[in-house]
Amino acid sequence: MKPNPLIITVATALLGVWVVIAAAAKPGPDHIDIYGGTSGKVPFPHARHQERIQDCNVCHSVFARESGAIKRMKEQGALKPKKVMNLQCIKCHKNEKRAGKPYGPVTCSTCHVK
Ligand code: HEC
Ligand code: HEC
Ligand code: HEC
Repeated sequence: MKPNPLIITVATALLGVWVVIAAAAKPGPDHIDIYGGTSGKVPFPHARHQERIQDCNVCHSVFARESGAIKRMKEQGALKPKKVMNLQCIKCHKNEKRAGKPYGPVTCSTCHVK
């Protein structure tokens, strides 16, 4: 029997959709130790932030959804050191604190551990 071209087209299209969905849904690890230079690593509860924030791009518009992305961009000069820390992490935590909501750490040693 000759393969039906229509079935092949539909099957290929469905596979494409599946690949896109699978890539978009890749959630990354629940917990990440972010590189924090001489101040020490920054233990980061990724899953809890995803639950609370929903929009991945609040963070990932600045760096890719890849392990070590922030460190790599800093090494390439594409991202200033402390930019993520100040403009994402600390900024949001301070805003939430001001709004009287649950918030994350705002002092050096509550984020960085040696
Ligand atoms: C509050 C900030 C923040 C939010 C919101 C966020 N992420 Fe991330 N994500 C990070 C950080 C930080 C890293 C680690 C980057 C690095 O290692 O330099 C990361 C890494 C990742 C990685 C790669 C991890 C690995 O080890 O391979 C994936 C995949 C990822 N995130 C997916 C998502 C998805 C999907 C969402 C939305 C549902 C999301 N993230 C929301 C901060 C965030
Ligand atoms: C909310 C968590 C948080 C707090 C609070 C915080 N940091 Fe950070 N810090 C980070 C993260 C995440 C990074 C890595 C990303 C970046 O460089 O923006 C970082 C990066 C750094 C770096 C750059 C490391 C490098 O070589 O690239 C230094 C230095 C630093 N922090 C010092 C401090 C000092 C000093 C304080 C207190 C005034 C502080 N941090 C408070 C999370 C935090
Ligand atoms: C848009 C807001 C937002 C951003 C951006 C954000 N956080 Fe948070 N973070 C929160 C809130 C809200 C909480 C407290 C609620 C909770 O624990 O679920 C929190 C809690 C935390 C905690 C405490 C968890 C615990 O065990 O008590 C850590 C550590 C933390 N954040 C680190 C970071 C780091 C590092 C970054 C930057 C890579 C970051 N956060 C970016 C909103 C944010």
